[in-house]
Amino acid sequence: MKLLVTRPIPEPAEARVRAEPGVEATVLEEDAALDRAVLLHAASGADAILALLTERMNAELFDRSPNLRMVANMAVGFDNVDIDAAAARGIWVTNTPGVLDGATADLAMALLLAAARRLPEAERFLRAGRYRRWGPLLLCGQEVHGRTLGILGLGRIGEAVARRARLGFSMEILYWDDRGRPDLEQELGARRTDLDTLLGAADFVSIHLPLTESTAGLIDADRLAQMKSTAVLVNTARGPLVDEAALAAALRSGGIWAAGLDVFEREPEVHPDLPGLDNAVLLPHIASASIPTRLAMADLAVDNILALHRGEAPPTPVVRGTR
Ligand code: GLV
Repeated sequence: MKLLVTRPIPEPAEARVRAEPGVEATVLEEDAALDRAVLLHAASGADAILALLTERMNAELFDRSPNLRMVANMAVGFDNVDIDAAAARGIWVTNTPGVLDGATADLAMALLLAAARRLPEAERFLRAGRYRRWGPLLLCGQEVHGRTLGILGLGRIGEAVARRARLGFSMEILYWDDRGRPDLEQELGARRTDLDTLLGAADFVSIHLPLTESTAGLIDADRLAQMKSTAVLVNTARGPLVDEAALAAALRSGGIWAAGLDVFEREPEVHPDLPGLDNAVLLPHIASASIPTRLAMADLAVDNILALHRGEAPPTPVVRGTR
C-alpha cells in the first residue's frame, strides 16, 4: 500500500505506519500539502491518504488518483471531503470521532471563560504596563457560574461541554438539536428548545454542529440580533456556521457582549475587523490541540488505514468504500 500522509503527524503514529509490512509511507513536508499542485501530484499514486481538514479531498483529486481506496481524515469534521464524490467512486472515507471530545470541550469552556472575563484583554493591559492599581471598575466582565448556556448541537462534543458547564459551573443548559437527548435532560436538567427561544434566553451560546449545506451561515445578522446584548458566542465547530462580518458588526456595536472563536470562515484568514476588537477572543483552530488528543486522532486515522491494508473493517467509517 502506498500511503500519503499530507503533513507531519505525531511521531508514534507515523512510526506505526512505517513499521507495517507492505506499507510504503510518504510524509509531505509542512506546507507542501497546501500547494494544490504538489498535493495532487503526491496523491496521484496513492492507495490511501491520511488527510487533514486543510486539504480539499474532491473529485478533481480522486480522478487523478486512480488507485485511491481510502481518505482517512485526521479530524472529526469532514466538510473538506466531498463525500458524494468519494462514495460514487467506492473510496472509503473515515474520520476521528470520540477521541477529541474532551479536549474540544475544554477549549470551548476556556473560550467561554476568557471572553466572559476578558482574559486576553486584561493580559494585554498588564503586559502594556498599564496596571497601576487595583480598581473596583477595572476590567469587569460577565458572570459565568449559574448562568444559562445554549448549546447548538448536543452530540458528543456538545454533551462534554454541557457536563462541564452543568457540573463545574452550575449552569442551566438549553439545547437545540434535531435529536432529543432525554438522557441528558434527566441527568443534567438540559432543556430542548427551538433556536429562537435558545438565542433569546441564553447568556452563552456555544456551537457544536457539523458544517453542512443546512448549517452554513446559521448564525447570521438576524440571529445575532436575537441574542442578549450581554451574551457571549463561542464557536469551536466550523467558521462558516457564523457570518463573520455580521459578528464583527455585532461585537463592535454592542449587539452582543463578546465572542470566543477558534474557527473562521476562510481559515487561516480572519475577518479584518476582528483582531481590532477587544471583545473578540481569537485562536488559530486549536481546540483538539493537546498532545495526547492529537496523538489519539493520528492513531485513529492510522487504525483505519491499517485495517484496510489488513483486510479488516475500518473502525470509524463515514463512507464505506468498495475498493
Ligand atoms: C477539528 O476541527 C476536527 O474536526 O477534528
